[in-house]
Amino acid sequence: MPDFDVIVLGAGAAGMMAGIEAGKRGRKVLVVDHARDPGEKIRISGGGRCNFTNVNATHTLGRERFLSSNPRFALSALSRYTPDMFIARVKKQGIAYHEKTLGQLFCDGPATQIVSMLTNDLRAAGAAIWTGREVGSIEKTADGFDVMVGDGRVTATSLVVATGGKSIPKMGATGLAYQIARQFGLEVTDTRPALVPLTFEPGALEQLKPLAGVSTNAVVGHGKTQFEEALLFTHRGLSGPAILQISSYWRDGDAISVNLLPGADALEFLRAARKATPKLHIQTVLSDKLPRRLAQLVGELINQPGMIGDLSDKKLMAAAEQVSRWRLKPVGSEGYRTAEVTLGGIDTTGLDAKTMVARQVPGLFFVGEAVDVTGWLGGYNFQWAWASGWAAGQVA
Ligand code: FDA
Repeated sequence: MPDFDVIVLGAGAAGMMAGIEAGKRGRKVLVVDHARDPGEKIRISGGGRCNFTNVNATHTLGRERFLSSNPRFALSALSRYTPDMFIARVKKQGIAYHEKTLGQLFCDGPATQIVSMLTNDLRAAGAAIWTGREVGSIEKTADGFDVMVGDGRVTATSLVVATGGKSIPKMGATGLAYQIARQFGLEVTDTRPALVPLTFEPGALEQLKPLAGVSTNAVVGHGKTQFEEALLFTHRGLSGPAILQISSYWRDGDAISVNLLPGADALEFLRAARKATPKLHIQTVLSDKLPRRLAQLVGELINQPGMIGDLSDKKLMAAAEQVSRWRLKPVGSEGYRTAEVTLGGIDTTGLDAKTMVARQVPGLFFVGEAVDVTGWLGGYNFQWAWASGWAAGQVA
């Protein structure tokens, strides 16, 4: 007889959800984590307020808002476990929350409330939680799986791998899930840091550095993809939600475009200013719409000293181009050290979309960030963790 019905590796968002659901079905569950406490990423998420879901994370928007080599893969789990279902849990616990922007739901109080809700639910479902234990070798047996945990071996019929991706190694990210996937013959797609600040070469950085701390609303684009959100200049380069979002699409060597006047026609604006205030310098005109330091830099880049009234249409068009299609070429990102998620992961072709079980290995499940499904910023990644964990928990 195996020691447990289900062993879940990783007491993060996806692992706890899988453990709760399996436990509720009467399965004897063990959740193992090498961290001292469960749910460490939940605790620090959303600036400590946990952006626990996004009301727009429905399956109908999934193809656009969840990146994957197979954008359809996530839709099944997302349609079966919806944001409303997680919101109902939060409400039942009396956890107060609010919508911040763009459908993003945050706790009013600390994110630890979500961690407590999940650990309480796990215990209520009869699951054992072993933290501070290293996971060693894993073997397939006739009955299921034999896993080295700490100094001892434990066995179970089902194994749910929920050890996340590579982002923030300091917080315990290891890439163990990829290793297990490869051991059992599953493919792993290329991985890269995502939802991450972008960095610049020293020359460009020198130019941007005086703006460190300046934030403005902008449309940041890469190819056909665009996000209108806050853009933040930092000592290392660019950050803020608009940059984190575009970082999931950006590739080495590519440029990004920045429109500093979202919702406005830059040329019309400059033409109107030329008529109304011809004696002003272009920097002064721009400071009406942009933070002063930013207006100054953009003014320098436009490099048209003198009064706006003296600028020809051609020069005004070039200035408008600089303001609304500022091309910037990042050299890299801050990497896994600060990335919120890992793009890529366990190839979905080896997994069943409804249950998250490995097609060729009965009883072996992969859920959460470890899988090649990456959501937009704003609660989408937790919704994927809840939904994929829930899906596995129904059958594991
Ligand atoms: P997760 O990483 O949460 O859990 C994996 C668990 O496995 C961890 O507990 C880890 O210790 C354990 N583990 C790893 N290797 C192991 C090993 N070798 N042995 C044993 N255990 C091991 N998303 C969102 O939707 N809203 C938000 O507000 C935020 N905010 C946010 C802030 C920051 C700073 C970060 C880094 C990330 C976010 N995210 C987010 C993303 C979100 O945290 C992420 O998508 C989920 O935590 C993924 O859940 P998983 O359960 O898949 O992995």
